[in-house]
Amino acid sequence: MKIRLIVPAAGSGERLGAACPKALVPLAGIPLLVHTLRRFEALGLAHDAIVLHAPEARPRFAAALNGALAQQDIVLTEGGATRQASVAIGLDHADGADIVVIHDAARPFITSQAIQASIDAAAECGAATVAIPASDTILVADNAGYLDTTPDRSRLWCCQTPQTFRRDVIRDAHATAAREGYAGTDDATLVRRAGGQVKLIPGTSLNLKITTPADLTLAETIVKEHLA
Ligand code: CTP
Ligand code: MG
Repeated sequence: MKIRLIVPAAGSGERLGAACPKALVPLAGIPLLVHTLRRFEALGLAHDAIVLHAPEARPRFAAALNGALAQQDIVLTEGGATRQASVAIGLDHADGADIVVIHDAARPFITSQAIQASIDAAAECGAATVAIPASDTILVADNAGYLDTTPDRSRLWCCQTPQTFRRDVIRDAHATAAREGYAGTDDATLVRRAGGQVKLIPGTSLNLKITTPADLTLAETIVKEHLA
């Protein structure tokens, strides 16, 4: 079974507000993207990863990756205008894979166990995403900024990555979304919209997505204290 890792890393990181693309921001002195790829090394998935880089940033991404991993045959390709477009480009480079693991560059603390569980579930049922049961009550607002409805928290999960799929399943889902003009913020949702089943794999809050400067400060502490 050929498994291929796709890493969307083409975002600018507007909310982080750093001087460089978010994936290249140093975390404890090492680019975020390198931390994230190292998490996949133990499973043998980093060396031929498909990394979607920010526009015109290829030389900087190549320099960041140079010598950073033990073995390297990484495919560096320019991403698209949205995460969904970046993943679609990544899928075009994953010919021959049976399973694709899609993981955001911005989540540097994923564990081998969660990655493996997502692969096992995708192999069995076609699609899986790591997610955590919502701990906060989630409020749905109306257009004027007032509380509209409060969904039953016991059924709410916060989406994370990796999201792992049989390649045919995710390719078909992306094709359906493109045909229907649907823009999502993750890939599992595209599979569900296309009628597929997606297994939820319970993750942990340490698999946070670095989004704001406060997240980066928290991540520095996590690294320093060896919490993840
Ligand atoms: N991403 C991507 N291509 C895009 C936009 C996002 O590959 N056009 C990637 C990001 O690099 C990141 C992941 O998707 O690894 C999750 O996106 P997010 O955390 O929103 O990152 P950014 O889009 O960079 O951040 P922001 O929304 O604050 O600009
Ligand atoms: Mg974004």
